[in-house]
Amino acid sequence: MSEEKKHDGLSRRSFLKGVGGGVVGTAVLTSSRRTSAAEQYGDVVGPDAVEITLNVNGQKRTLTVDPRVTLLDALRDQLSLTGSKRVCNKGQCGACTLICNGRTVLACSMLAIDADGADVETIEGLKTGDQLHPVQEEFIKNDALQCGFCTPGFIMSSVALLRKNPSPSMEEIKYAVSGNLCRCGTYPHVFKAVHDAAQAMKKGG
Ligand code: FES
Ligand code: FES
Repeated sequence: MSEEKKHDGLSRRSFLKGVGGGVVGTAVLTSSRRTSAAEQYGDVVGPDAVEITLNVNGQKRTLTVDPRVTLLDALRDQLSLTGSKRVCNKGQCGACTLICNGRTVLACSMLAIDADGADVETIEGLKTGDQLHPVQEEFIKNDALQCGFCTPGFIMSSVALLRKNPSPSMEEIKYAVSGNLCRCGTYPHVFKAVHDAAQAMKKGG
């Protein structure tokens, strides 16, 4: 059979030309996507490990992380700062909440490389010497925890709130911790603890 002989209206040569064109087209498309991603996001890091520096609880810490490692895993697994809890690990429960450059973040949903150079505050850094932070004191006094897995996240959200707003209303307290979930149902105690901490801090506690 001739190469050019039509078979069901399509010759083998024209079919191969079509496939070849598709492959070339895909390669060009992939290449242009890479170019636009690089333009959009800047330098691409990895796949090798990257050295980053974090200012964690006032201490400069240099560590080497794979680009895919989250801030939470870097803190827990490399710096042994296990106060921030890994519960849902997908940005839904708030147990990993910490303060990064003055703002609360979910450490399970932030890459460690994106925190390079940042000031990171975890629950371990709240106390001064042997003195717990007033929010920690009031959580204890108000019995605002049971299993405790959610507690560091609630406390970090509350500390961030009281820095911005030293006299929050009950509605503002509830809103500030609305991203933190507690399976043990300690919410009323948490709200009272944050309210009492605000009072104590105003009195210099
Ligand atoms: S562990 Fe990060 S939000 Fe649940
Ligand atoms: S105290 Fe157990 S989840 Fe909140």
